[in-house]
Parts: sequence; C-alpha cells; structure tokens
Amino acid sequence: ALKTLPRHMISLSDYSAEQIAALVESAADFKRKTKEEGQTYHPDAPLRGQTVALLFSKRSTRTRVASESSIAYLGGHAMFLGKEDIQLSVNESLRDSAQVISSMVDGIFARVGAHSEITTLAEHSSVPVINALCDENHPTQILADLLTIWEVYGGRRPGASTMFDVFRGLRVAWVGDANNIVYEMLAAMPKCGFDMRVCTPAKYPIPESVRVRAQGDAEKAKVSVEYFTDPLDAVRDADIIVTDTWVSMGQEAEKAQRLRDFQGYQVSREMAEKGGAKSDWTFMHCLPRKPEEVTDEVFYSDRSVVFQEAENRKWTILAAFAALLPKKN
Ligand code: CP
Ligand code: NVA
Repeated sequence: ALKTLPRHMISLSDYSAEQIAALVESAADFKRKTKEEGQTYHPDAPLRGQTVALLFSKRSTRTRVASESSIAYLGGHAMFLGKEDIQLSVNESLRDSAQVISSMVDGIFARVGAHSEITTLAEHSSVPVINALCDENHPTQILADLLTIWEVYGGRRPGASTMFDVFRGLRVAWVGDANNIVYEMLAAMPKCGFDMRVCTPAKYPIPESVRVRAQGDAEKAKVSVEYFTDPLDAVRDADIIVTDTWVSMGQEAEKAQRLRDFQGYQVSREMAEKGGAKSDWTFMHCLPRKPEEVTDEVFYSDRSVVFQEAENRKWTILAAFAALLPKKN
C-alpha cells in the first residue's frame, strides 16, 4: 500500500484505510528499530542530498521538532522557512512562492491558515506537499493518534491480529470545538473501523461536507458516526475521549466569546462518570493544551496518553516523509 500513496498528503480523506494502516505500521517499525535496536538513522539515507522546505506560517512545537529531526534521520536537509523569513504573503503570492521554492527543493511540509492555501501550494508545486496543519486538516496528527491507539489497545485486545481488529468497535468521543482535528478524525477514523460520537456546541456545528464524507465512509465500514451537543450523551460507553483547545491558532480575537460558548465542555472525571464512559477510558489531546478544556486530574492521570501521542508525531512524520518524499526512480 505504501507504493501506491497519493503524491501529496493534504488530508487522510484522500488515503484508503490500507494506505493509512501501512503508514502507521511503518511508523511503528521505525519506532521499534530506533528504541529497541538502537538504529539512529535510516541505513539507506533515502533523503541524502535532498532538501525539504518546512514552510510554517504558524507556531509549532511538535510538528516542527518531529519534522526537522525526521529529515535528519533520513539523511536530508531541513530548511525551516518561518513567516518572517521569506517574501511569501508580504511581497509575493503563494502561487509564485510555490513554483519558486519547489524548483529548488525535493519536498514541502507546510503549516498554513486556510485550506485553500495548502491546495494552492500542491497545485503549483513540482514536488510533494505534505500538510503540517491547515484550518480544516491535520493528517500527520491523526496518523500519530492511530499509532497511539494501536499501541494502547493492541495490548488490551490479545485476540486481535490486524490493526483493524484492534480498532473495530472502539468508540471515540470528541468533546470540543468543530475544528481541524475533529474534521481530520472524521476523515480517517470511520473508514478504519471506529465508531465516533462527536459533541460540539450547537453554535459550532460540523460542516455538512465533512459529515457527508464521514457518513459514506461509516456506511462502507459498517460503523456509526453520531453528533451531539451534550457531552454527557457523547461520552456514553466511550473507550477514548478526545478534545483540543477551544481557541485555535488564528482565533485569538474570539477567545472571550469562545470561553463562554464552551462552558460545560471541560473533560473531567465527573463528566466521564456521569455520562457513563467505559471504566478504562483513555484520554487523548493533540496538544498544546490549555487548562480550560481538560482538568489537570485527567490530563496528568494514568489514563491520559497525551505524551505518548505527542512522541508518536515523530514516528509517524518520519514514516510519512520516508514514504512520500524520496525521489522515485
Ligand atoms: N499537535 C501539534 O500539531 O502541535 P504543534 O502545534 O506544537 O506542532
Ligand atoms: N486546533 C489547533 C490544533 C493545534 C495543533 C489549532 O489549529 O490551533
């Protein structure tokens, strides 16, 4: 499946369940070889002599650290281009920047604002473009989430032989904003066999286009996707409860309003107990985390896998780069 991947990675909606699983397996393999066998770089150095442009118009800790260190692991050169560094959006259009930058590098990993920016980059780039977050998607985040769930639940489901056996029947509850993270989860998880319960305030609905695609995937995979506005309904029987910030990058001016609109959405032990989540429920969050969306009690508890999830950004970005960026013969 790794040999047939699309040229770019804009969203996992463009990838089949088998392609997603192959990337997650490749990430697990890199992690094992590194942590258990002491491998510190890819023996074939598949990016030797190649440069990957890291075009970041927003802040990043995990995505940046994972990507720069992954390119070193693959023997390539990472060229970080922050928004203060280049002509883009001050003196030059995205289209022209895409054509110029791609004429000199071998891949582009880009964190942008609007979704149209990542599609414009892909359209005008002569090299693969991988989305490092836009306002609608975050594919490399959800790859890391899937690796984490496979690690956590693989051990709890000893009869499961494939990744899909581990995923099937797990119920994921989202309690939070209608944002890039939940859209990307809805793009990837139903087709991988998860049941999803998505809870957002009525004022922040999941867009129709995202729902329609998720429903189509869910029907094919014989799983369910349901929508709620009351967190207590959404967390019923949940294996995994996930949230994210209520104020995404770029929404800072809406902060006060959003803090009011998300009252009652803080993930807590009481919420999980009252709503009837499974007793061994797991907490996930892409980070960075603000205290309002989850209590410290949950965030720093044994059921929270957020730091494992964060580390897995490294292994999954490494796998995505190794699969998509080396020049094909
Ligand atoms: N989860 C995530 O993308 O984190 P950063 O914004 O720090 O990269
Ligand atoms: N929804 C958040 C995710 C950060 C990784 C944002 O877009 O800012």
